[in-house]
Amino acid sequence: MATAASSSRCPSHSFLRLLAAAAVLAAFGFARAAAGSSGDETVLLNVQSLLPGRSCAAPQENKPNGATSARMQVVHQHGPCSPLADAHGKPPSHAEILAADQNRVESIQRRVAATAGKLKKRAAPVQPGPKKNPAGIHPGHSSFSSAPLLPVSSGRALGTGNYVVTLGLGTPASKYTVVFDTGSDTTWVQCRPCVVKCYKQKDPLFDPAKSSTYANVSCSDSACDDLDESGCTGGHCLYAVQYGDGSYTVGFFARDTLTIAHDAIKGFQFGCGEKNDGLFGKTAGLLGLGRGKTSLTVQAQYRYGGAFAYCFPALSTDTTGYLDFGPGASPANARVTPMLTDNGPTFYFVGLTGIRVGGKQLSIPETVFSTGGTIVDSGTVITRLPETAYSALSSAFTAGMAARGFKKVQGYSILETCYDFTGISEATVPTVSLVFKGGACLDVDESGILYAISQAQVCLAFASIGDDESTGILGNTQQKTYGVVYDLGKKTVGFAPGAC
Ligand SMILES: *[C@@H]1O[C@H](CO)[C@@H](O)[C@H](O)[C@H]1NC(C)=O
Repeated sequence: MATAASSSRCPSHSFLRLLAAAAVLAAFGFARAAAGSSGDETVLLNVQSLLPGRSCAAPQENKPNGATSARMQVVHQHGPCSPLADAHGKPPSHAEILAADQNRVESIQRRVAATAGKLKKRAAPVQPGPKKNPAGIHPGHSSFSSAPLLPVSSGRALGTGNYVVTLGLGTPASKYTVVFDTGSDTTWVQCRPCVVKCYKQKDPLFDPAKSSTYANVSCSDSACDDLDESGCTGGHCLYAVQYGDGSYTVGFFARDTLTIAHDAIKGFQFGCGEKNDGLFGKTAGLLGLGRGKTSLTVQAQYRYGGAFAYCFPALSTDTTGYLDFGPGASPANARVTPMLTDNGPTFYFVGLTGIRVGGKQLSIPETVFSTGGTIVDSGTVITRLPETAYSALSSAFTAGMAARGFKKVQGYSILETCYDFTGISEATVPTVSLVFKGGACLDVDESGILYAISQAQVCLAFASIGDDESTGILGNTQQKTYGVVYDLGKKTVGFAPGAC
């Protein structure tokens, strides 16, 4: 929704831009009512727009966004524009989506905790040990089947809450629709001959034998050491990724030409998955966009400067979002905050410092946010906040809704601040803004404040992380319509309103 293009919540905006915003909002038939700093700022939202859209407009061409970037289209895996739509059958239920989201959040928490432990250990000098074969990988082909990997917690492939892009791999390039994930590093696709197991995917499997540029990475190659989990068989480097929710992929670490938009990245290192299962839906694999050495972000840093940006479209609209690489990826109106890089290699940490509801800053001690820090994640659906911050947000939002005659109804799964909008086509709700270190600010778009289970149960799309020590996560619902810009060179993360 372009209506948030120039919002009035974030303090960095000039009065002129406010006037422009008013004009834009009026033109779109939306209104944000400003009432000074009284905590009364509201947004009028179209209730129907919170419910899933049913049709997709003709997808746009993959046009480069200026000379210095490569652009791919982003769509929700289960949305009307998904190339996987007809392969999916019934989309997952809200209960399944939110349960899978909770799994992801818990797995991120475990990885953050494990990294924090490792970083502490590293502070003391340690003797480098011999290269180990990590759990799950042993030499020999039979290792794939005997690997003590975590069991898949659910037999049903959900692949929920994630956005997908279509990339090219091999020579000649074949197209693969994959999940993209800023919360992990190694890219992989399911590979022929699928020695042990491949889940069902929509695209044909990647076949190394059909690509003239495919090569296995050898065990002595330094690239093999960049993997979190690696092994060796017959001189070939093995990789393994376990996602903590029971999903996993194991196979050969390889190099081939990756095509994104119209750019060819030669010698791109990725996993050729021979044993894969978990919550990947009908995608062909995953594109890793974390900060670690094996990620596309880092591998293509020579070309794109470690910069990329994406935009998730509002669910109900028939527009698609984008994933852009290169310095030209950053929209001019992005408001940036420092990327905090001392928490380990993969995640994008930022400094969330405050929350505004109805234009009024909530009184939450800054240490509540800084203790566990906050990750910006493309794959988490619902934003997780420290308990104290969530309580303050929920109370202020509840009060704002009560002032407009809305009483809370029963919660749903992890969502507990819900309202019944039956028979209402438009609802006036308090605005919600997130404030970051350095003054960056994100006025959550109309499409990202509430999550609709049904018209009778529309819930504040935030949840508590359970305490004030765990790491908070900025989820993709709250990122909707924003250009979210990551720049490893400048060490910034930015938010540009109205990007798609
Ligand atoms: C890669 O390694 C696998 C397993 O050893 C082998 O079957 C395949 O032929 C190798 N591919 C190439 C191109 O070397």
